[in-house]
Amino acid sequence: MKVIACYNIKGGVGKTAATVNLAYFAALAGVRTLVWDLDPQGAASFYFRIKPKVKKGGKGLLTSKKMPSDVIKGTDYQSLDLLPADFSYRHLDLQLDDFKNPDMQLRKLLKPLKTEYDYIFLDCPPGVSLISENILNAADWIIVPTIPTTLSLRTLDQIGDFCEKIGIVSSRVLAFFSMIDLRKKLHRQIVENPSVNTQLLKTCIPYASDVELMGIHRQPVAVFAKNSKASQAYQVLWNEIMSL
Ligand SMILES: Nc1ncnc2c1ncn2[C@@H]1O[C@H](COP(=O)(O)OP(=O)(O)OP(=O)(O)O)[C@@H](O)[C@H]1O
Ligand SMILES: [Mg+2]
Repeated sequence: MKVIACYNIKGGVGKTAATVNLAYFAALAGVRTLVWDLDPQGAASFYFRIKPKVKKGGKGLLTSKKMPSDVIKGTDYQSLDLLPADFSYRHLDLQLDDFKNPDMQLRKLLKPLKTEYDYIFLDCPPGVSLISENILNAADWIIVPTIPTTLSLRTLDQIGDFCEKIGIVSSRVLAFFSMIDLRKKLHRQIVENPSVNTQLLKTCIPYASDVELMGIHRQPVAVFAKNSKASQAYQVLWNEIMSL
């Protein structure tokens, strides 16, 4: 089992879009895949048409010895399950703080799922908090969607520093350029000549209205626009991640 977290301190950079589309391609290849929507906004749950509700909420999950099987839902896609968001996740930081090893609880919860799934994707809320620390400690790979702008690159450095501070090996952090618009000079300059201290995946995800349309179709982009540039880019990105 590999745990893949789509994480960034910044909001609105394409974390959920990447989670949903990469998980879809993982499952399409026939491997058992779970998406855990950890964001109380519940966007990944929305895309999979599943109500953001977890029995007994986040606290119930944290205090259960084993992940209760009835909180995991099937999706419309074979091999792809979802652990939906719950609005109570907004209190996860406070609840985690009550534990002895407050930064390792997510990792502990995921352990028993090892035999059930080949890939577990974590759709992370933006920010840098105790829940982020749990996510970083639980993930084998931390995928960081990054819009090619000056401030986003600065945030990428902050993520690198934070990971180093909490002992995350830098080889586990992989950034990719997200929402690139090559009509913009700055995007072109940064993509052509990236100056970052984080490992950078070669594949970029273009700014594409098909990704926005996921909100209307409530489906991964490959389901309703199979041959679109965006769908192809996510497939190539997934191939690249798997080849590492
Ligand atoms: N490649 C893209 N091209 C165009 N629009 C995109 C692209 N990726 C994401 N979007 C749009 O940008 C918005 C934010 O995307 P998304 O929800 O994936 O970001 P996020 O990082 O998960 O945000 P949050 O931090 O709020 O969870 C959404 O409206 C989405 O449809
Ligand atoms: Mg999101």
